[in-house]
Amino acid sequence: MISKIIKSSSNKKKEKLIIANWKMAPQNLIEARKIFREIKKQIIKIKKMNVVICPPNVYLSDLSIKYNGKKIQFGAQDISWRTGEQNTGEIGADILKSFNVKHVIVGHSERREIGETNEIVSLKLIRSIDDGLIPILCVGEKQRDKEGKYLHFVRDQLIGSLAGIEPKDIEKVIIAYEPLFAIGSGHSAISANDLHQMILYIRKILSQIYNRKIAMNIKILYGGSVGIENCKEIVDQGEVDGLLIGRASLNPYLFTDILKVFFK
Ligand code: PGA
Repeated sequence: MISKIIKSSSNKKKEKLIIANWKMAPQNLIEARKIFREIKKQIIKIKKMNVVICPPNVYLSDLSIKYNGKKIQFGAQDISWRTGEQNTGEIGADILKSFNVKHVIVGHSERREIGETNEIVSLKLIRSIDDGLIPILCVGEKQRDKEGKYLHFVRDQLIGSLAGIEPKDIEKVIIAYEPLFAIGSGHSAISANDLHQMILYIRKILSQIYNRKIAMNIKILYGGSVGIENCKEIVDQGEVDGLLIGRASLNPYLFTDILKVFFK
């Protein structure tokens, strides 16, 4: 039914984007340097790629300031929506930008689990765009049900999180669909067919909020148990524009093997 409304997400034309979400790992800077060094070594032969690494903020200065290559870009895992200096513990866009950060993950499910609401996510999206960062908005349901309530959940997340994002700004946003039941160890990725249906559904919602052209142009990524064994099928058959990779991105060999599938 969904596929009758929007037949194809036209992902074939768009350059793929791979985001590495290191989350709260590795445990120390020495290890972070080691992983980053090995990634750089393994991608020497790749000419051009579209890759963003999001390490914990405290490692950013060490990794990004010293890096003078062009192939890897840096991102943050969160951003403060507040402005001004009187915000203990917060990290704002200007600080991130001074560490060569261009992208920021917003509304990851692990942050939503500790109380981040759609309203806060919306404020963070607005702040990122206003301050010149590219936000990666994460959405995804906890579980699926036969009645299709999960579709309403994803729709409400999209509508709530994108509240306040004007049509002129929406194409600056990247969406990452990450169903919670597929994230983390002990889980497996969603099937390519289920993913494809969800991507079409997300584009349908976007076309209702904005318009069809915007809905077709916006980049949608997938995240949740991506590995070398499933990355190609997920992208090709799921018709996504790229991947948001957690655990596999901390293994430099595995991660760069995935990169080599998409970039030559
Ligand atoms: P995973 O995490 O690849 O380890 O499942 C994805 C994510 O949470 O972004």
